[in-house]
Amino acid sequence: MTYEFILSEKKGRVGLITLNRPKQMNALNAKVMQEMAAALYAFDADEGVGCILITGNDKAFAAGADIAAMKDYSYMDAYKSDYITRDWEHLRKIRKPVIAAVAGYALGGGCELTMMCDLAIAAENAKFGQPEINLGIMPGSGGTQRLPRFTSKAIAMDLCLTARMLDAQEALRAGLVSRVVPVDTLMEQALAMAEKIAGYSLPVVMMIKESINRAYETSLAEGVLFERRVFHSQFALEDQKEGMAAFVEKRKPTFKHR
Ligand code: HXC
Repeated sequence: MTYEFILSEKKGRVGLITLNRPKQMNALNAKVMQEMAAALYAFDADEGVGCILITGNDKAFAAGADIAAMKDYSYMDAYKSDYITRDWEHLRKIRKPVIAAVAGYALGGGCELTMMCDLAIAAENAKFGQPEINLGIMPGSGGTQRLPRFTSKAIAMDLCLTARMLDAQEALRAGLVSRVVPVDTLMEQALAMAEKIAGYSLPVVMMIKESINRAYETSLAEGVLFERRVFHSQFALEDQKEGMAAFVEKRKPTFKHR
């Protein structure tokens, strides 16, 4: 499948999506998001894929929603087309882990896209921000909700109210990303991370993602109960038998993803 604004390819068991509007700093318009959704659903349905990686280029992961495309929207245009909800929320339905590999700018919708992924790895030149206030608007793809949950209320207020950007090290300290690496090794390290995840038992990986994401949607008691039920179910997996037998027999497990 070929796309206009993204590249989509398989690298072993990793599904790689590269945002490809370099002249517009990977600004996110409806077509980009629709193409990304198609690629995401295809990888999610592919038994040969265990982890998905979304990246941009060295200058920009994505500099936000496409300002030129939305500048003349009326309220009715936004409301009737269900702007953002219609094309951007597909990522939340993906059951395999999605990693954001971020170099350069991740601003506005680009920062929100990062937070909609399950985890993020940043290059040293990465910059994260919610500068919508400069444009006379506020974040509209979850920024005001995910930033305080993933970082802190103070950092969310700071970024959204002043348009200040976080550099990669600040983003690491704030909890927005889990690793920071040199720019020229970003893809190598992000792919290694994705390959490692993709090598584990796929149902276990999916259940871990589902359980951790549950922590953001429910109380601790309910979340722990959810985890316990899912954990118990894993004793029905062939991969649990294989993983534990391999440990006892001092060999590497061969997971069958069931
Ligand atoms: C459309 C964009 C764009 C965007 C950059 N470009 N960001 N086009 N939408 N979000 C375009 C520029 O217009 C320019 O096109 C080209 O990309 C290069 O950008 P420059 O500004 O010349 O580059 P530079 O000086 O290096 O500055 C980079 C930058 C700056 C700091 C990223 O472009 C910038 O501030 N962009 C806007 C960031 C932003 O406000 N994002 C939030 C958008 S609103 P030409 O044709 O002149 O070469 C949003 C919220 C939506 O995301 C709600 C939910 C998603």
